[in-house]
Amino acid sequence: MASQPQTLTIRRPDDWHVHLRDGAMLQAVAPWTGRQFARAIVMPNLSPPVTSVAMAAAYRARILAALPEDARFTPLMTCYLTDHTDPAEVVRGFEQGAWAACKLYPAHATTNSAHGVTSVAHIRPVLDAMQRAGMPLLIHGEVTDPAIDIFDREAVFVERVLAPLLIDYPALKIVLEHITTAEAASFVAAGPATLAATITPQHLHLDRNALFAGGIRPHAYCLPVLKRARHRDAVRTAATSGSPKFFLGTDSAPHLIEAKETGCGCAGIFNAPFALESYLTVFEEEGALDRFEAFASEHGARFYGLPLNEGTVTVTRGGADVPERIGAVVPFHAGERLTWRLA
Ligand code: NCD
Ligand code: ZN
Repeated sequence: MASQPQTLTIRRPDDWHVHLRDGAMLQAVAPWTGRQFARAIVMPNLSPPVTSVAMAAAYRARILAALPEDARFTPLMTCYLTDHTDPAEVVRGFEQGAWAACKLYPAHATTNSAHGVTSVAHIRPVLDAMQRAGMPLLIHGEVTDPAIDIFDREAVFVERVLAPLLIDYPALKIVLEHITTAEAASFVAAGPATLAATITPQHLHLDRNALFAGGIRPHAYCLPVLKRARHRDAVRTAATSGSPKFFLGTDSAPHLIEAKETGCGCAGIFNAPFALESYLTVFEEEGALDRFEAFASEHGARFYGLPLNEGTVTVTRGGADVPERIGAVVPFHAGERLTWRLA
């Protein structure tokens, strides 16, 4: 048997989907992302959401102020689409570098999505303008129809919303965020080069049994909700396939412990502190360590049309002990020992 590598050095990676929050939570979580990643696509679902160039610029400044002086981290901002988004504002912000993409939340699909889009019909002028400008559209791909079972909402979105969108906007760059199903993985794999997907660590590790292991497990609850093992395995196959259509997006989404451990707990898993270590466990289990660098550091940048990062990070086989709590948040893998450790 070939000896196991003891260290792995890769080009500095990026996180193409993260929630950095605001205020005290931003102060607590931003350094973790800045430690692991060179750049991150920052989700705009604050309250109120980031809907203008001025709001994005102010939020970007707050993020930079929350990072240590010596941090080498670039936040890439996003615009939260509503039924009333002005196409001219979107393109103005993109052209001046205020934001890198727009985020489409179907109204009421997830945390702070009440101002989201009620129908794609309302944002057609925005999508036309984004397509012309070459600006990516990032999608939370779940239908919100309460008649659709929550475990089916992503697959139904792909069929009812995403497939027609690709036909109507053949040149629009689209990222289907945090995919969780075999249907989404195969649709993206078979789709045009304008279509890609991000994949979280939790959707690679866990299936829906994790929500009910010995009792209800609020810290395993995120959206899109965990699916059956066969879906988790399809997502693992996609992530480790080497296809440039799949790339790293943690969806790290911290909530205070009391907001998770309650009668109606928030959706979201805080995975930023040990994200690379978490993904590496999966890539190693799949015999795909040699494909991790492309997933973490190349595919996303190429899709967005951004340069690859300079410099490298090294992980060693030494064991990272994940604490039970980080501040007032329970991290993903709390209490576990992960094989790899970021040097
Ligand atoms: C995210 C959050 O808390 O902002 N929650 C989550 O479960 N992923 C929102 C989102 O990305 O859906
Ligand atoms: Zn998210």
